[in-house]
Amino acid sequence: MVKALVAALDERVRQAMTTALGVAAQRVDPLIRPSDHADFQANGVLPLAKSLKADPRQLAAKVAQALAADELITSCEVAGPGFLNLTVADSAISTQVAARLGDPRLGVPPADTDNVAVIDYSQPNIAKEMHVGHLRSTVIGDALVRLLEFTGTKVIRQNHLGDWGTQFGMLIQYLVEHPELRAHAEGESGSEAISRLNALYRDSRARFDNDPEFADRARRRVVALQAGDRETLEGWREIVAESKVYFEDVYDRLRVLLVDEDAVGESFYNPFLTEVAEDLERRGIAVRSDGALCVFFDDVLGPDGNPVPLIVQKSDGGFGYAATDLAAIRYRVQTLGANRILYVVDSRQALHFKMVFETARRAGYLPGAVEAVHVAFGSVLGPDGKPFKTRAGDTVRLISLLNEAVEHARRTVEAKNPSLDPALLPRRADEVGIGAVKYADLSTSRTRDYIFDLDRMVSLNGNTSVYLQYAHARIRSILRKLPADAANAGVHARLELAPAERRLAMLLDQFGATTQAVVESLEPHRLCGYLYAVAQAFTDFYESCPVLKAPSEAVRDNRVALCRLTGDTLRLGLESLGIAAPEQL
Ligand code: ARG
Repeated sequence: MVKALVAALDERVRQAMTTALGVAAQRVDPLIRPSDHADFQANGVLPLAKSLKADPRQLAAKVAQALAADELITSCEVAGPGFLNLTVADSAISTQVAARLGDPRLGVPPADTDNVAVIDYSQPNIAKEMHVGHLRSTVIGDALVRLLEFTGTKVIRQNHLGDWGTQFGMLIQYLVEHPELRAHAEGESGSEAISRLNALYRDSRARFDNDPEFADRARRRVVALQAGDRETLEGWREIVAESKVYFEDVYDRLRVLLVDEDAVGESFYNPFLTEVAEDLERRGIAVRSDGALCVFFDDVLGPDGNPVPLIVQKSDGGFGYAATDLAAIRYRVQTLGANRILYVVDSRQALHFKMVFETARRAGYLPGAVEAVHVAFGSVLGPDGKPFKTRAGDTVRLISLLNEAVEHARRTVEAKNPSLDPALLPRRADEVGIGAVKYADLSTSRTRDYIFDLDRMVSLNGNTSVYLQYAHARIRSILRKLPADAANAGVHARLELAPAERRLAMLLDQFGATTQAVVESLEPHRLCGYLYAVAQAFTDFYESCPVLKAPSEAVRDNRVALCRLTGDTLRLGLESLGIAAPEQL
């Protein structure tokens, strides 16, 4: 495992600060940051001077003196009001490259080991089309799973399917009365499955609205479902299974990690709801109001100034979304052992989660040591800036959307490389198109809305996955052109580095810090921005520093090492986002 330059500098400057300024400087963060004015800047003297009421430039000068040049730092200058500008030795930079090279984790040590994160994401609803909101949750959740695992957290995926509720009465009853709708072909595709379910939904709803006797039978089905009646449960299972055929098709296409064991839907918590409600009522955390069991909050008021409660149980005795989430928290803490629970859900549900978390805290289901976070995201908008819908105002079908993205990508790939083996084209188009949809989502700051624009998503320029995939493929192609013995040659640390080599190498050294920042902030767009900066730094490097035609073999070796590490960083970065990095495009 490799210590990053920033960490090494942190240690050195800390020591120097203590040597120069004494005990007051102990445990003061030197605040080392990459800088435009030098390689790094240390800003920690400023807050220290303030607390000591001393002149920051004088203190900084003392620290600079204590930082004698060594194999890590070649120069240290006081700048501005009392910053330290640090220049790092070329040899130290090359040593970092050599140490990371060839390691599958690029030398990044896993950070924490006993953290258990439960992540609730994707969460589509049974018998319904997935919409773009579910796409966002799935894509963001999947990237967070991968990054949390990379940084050493144990991750438990939970796909909180909407698989319970009164609408099942009508669906099951209609299915029972129309056995011809049941028989479905083995190996049915996802779009066939969802078409059938859409028809079932539409027809049963129409019947429910127009035929009061059917509506009565449907209501009795709800009761039968809750009572665990065999025939009813069978119908329910069939509808759930049918929906899963569709979801799994989407998950496959998206290449996300979700599998069937991760599907722990709302129905799973059904047996615990009465117990939760009774517990909350007995302890006075929830109170009866107009027959409903409610939890109130001082700071949650409606537009009329009256408190808006969280409804745990409706006045007809039915349980809803909130009760399920409370039971789920208990299960996730007590049974799954989570110390961090993440909910990747649309921002519009912010109030729901605020109230659920607060209730769970009061009840002790969510102990102080356990963190619960609503990882909120914004909406996907159509080209007109309004919520993304078809022209007819319907939900956009995810599968057609993905097909369209792949088709766009196919045209881009074909135009860019007409000589690509046609047998490879479908696979490449898929990797590029699906990657583009995911990356467009991940690269915008999560809480912001974004416009779904396929042309921009598959563009070869700008901060897109296509740009990164091409940068990666280009590097792989350079490496393929090398003579066999040159491809894996070592690094010559005593060679001087060109400015573009230094910049690229120092950026590559920040991969670990970047992934760490992502799991702390839960903001995958930071990794996207980083990878984009790496690809740009590589382009600068490649323009000014020939690799295959390097001035000497030793220089070539060093540049090959940089190419390899850049390629590996881009690949690992893309894979951490759930995006493929093909060898060739
Ligand atoms: N199924 C819900 C929806 O489609 C989202 C569920 C979010 N997760 C949760 N634990 N409440 O809106």
